[in-house]
Amino acid sequence: MTAGVPADQVLEELRALRAGDLPTHGGRTLAYVYDSGLSGVDELAARAHALASSCNALDPTAFPSLLQLENEVVAAAAALLGGGPATVGSVTSGGTESCLLAVQAARDAHPEIDRPRMVLATTAHAAFHKASHYFGVEAVSVPVDPVTFQADADAMVAALDERTVLVVVSAPSYAHGVVDPVAQVAAAAAARGVRCHVDACIGGWVLPHFRRLGVAVPDFDLSVPGVTSLSVDLHKYAYCPKGTSVLLHASADLRRTQYFASARWPGYTMLNSTLQSTRSGGPLAAAWAVLRHLGDAGYARLASLTLDAVRRIRDGVEEIDGLRVLGDPVSTLLAVTADSGEFDVFTVADEMTERHWYVQPQFGFSSSPANLHLTVTAANNGSEPELLADFEGAVEAARRAGPVRLAPELVAAIRALDPAELTPEQFAGLLNAAGLDGVAAPKRMADVNAMLAVASPRLRERLLVEFLGAMYTNPA
Ligand SMILES: Cc1ncc(COP(=O)(O)O)c(C=O)c1O
Repeated sequence: MTAGVPADQVLEELRALRAGDLPTHGGRTLAYVYDSGLSGVDELAARAHALASSCNALDPTAFPSLLQLENEVVAAAAALLGGGPATVGSVTSGGTESCLLAVQAARDAHPEIDRPRMVLATTAHAAFHKASHYFGVEAVSVPVDPVTFQADADAMVAALDERTVLVVVSAPSYAHGVVDPVAQVAAAAAARGVRCHVDACIGGWVLPHFRRLGVAVPDFDLSVPGVTSLSVDLHKYAYCPKGTSVLLHASADLRRTQYFASARWPGYTMLNSTLQSTRSGGPLAAAWAVLRHLGDAGYARLASLTLDAVRRIRDGVEEIDGLRVLGDPVSTLLAVTADSGEFDVFTVADEMTERHWYVQPQFGFSSSPANLHLTVTAANNGSEPELLADFEGAVEAARRAGPVRLAPELVAAIRALDPAELTPEQFAGLLNAAGLDGVAAPKRMADVNAMLAVASPRLRERLLVEFLGAMYTNPA
């Protein structure tokens, strides 16, 4: 039995552990985190979280405060995103849960369809492939335009058939920050009685403000005829703590199949609106508090700061010899590639890490070449010159290093691996070839990324699942 540890010491230990993480504030981590740059917002959220974290949204009659908070948060999302009087919704734990539920609700609205399908663009978020895997809804992936990276509306419409229960469009896509032709796809889906989900998880809270600031954002929200559901994450551009997203439906009828009830056991009748059953009131209360505190005016100001930042960063990146922004992003996300073959973007990522910036490597997939993803937030406003100077320095260093060259035998060995048959010995051999000592992530990732880039997506999935398992097996 271990002895208890005094509270102060526990917190000290936690602080020490957190010191090894990427910074979540200050704009240096250009993926995973969203920083308003405003003082007091996090503190308010933490206090609101503490007030409600012991409440359980499993039973809103027992905790009417949570019912009210959720209805108000859903109403705020609906008001921002073109909802009408019939719009309803749920607060979920995050974007993936919202996307999963949109697929599950669409599938269960059609019990008569034996092998249901959903049509999506190749750029749709991987959450939909997870939904496909979990719920047995076949994902029909339609290639996007190779220049704009927007969904090809005609090709998506052509892919709809009598087994299609859902079509998915993004506003914007995570990988390229571009908005799909929502109106065209939604209209065609409606004509065939097919649901159309808009994945606005990442852009939903910022695009309406960008439009008011004059950005030519294509129509994408619930006011577009044929859009039946829309997801928007509060833990992204609403700058709320992790753990909240909203899934809106155009009507209660459309939402019904999302709900789950089971009276087939001797305990309480299980009645759930989302995947979770016990659901902490903490994230919901924190999100509600942040939305109320910032208000529309606060978000408009944050969007304006973010728009200036993303424009400056985009313009600056495009001036750096050898870098190019993919597509024509209208949102807050940039995908930066290198065309010349003189250097690897993954080496640029390592060089940025050396300079204390995190940019996220994205592998080549379909028509999209290997690139670096940047999620720009309000906190980036003001430090763009520093970011761009470091980008330029990182590119120079990557050019001096030259492209990563893997030994041809290694490339052949990777290509010969069968993901279905990968053995622990083969995995250990690859870790060794990658120069990895155990499973601690190395500081420089370009060689590892070059090896993963050679692998097929299926093999990459398999290798990374193995890596994840190893990480969660060896206590640090
Ligand atoms: C467009 C889009 N959809 C879904 C998700 C999944 O969200 P989460 O990571 O909150 O599960 C993301 C996350 O970045 C996203 O950008």
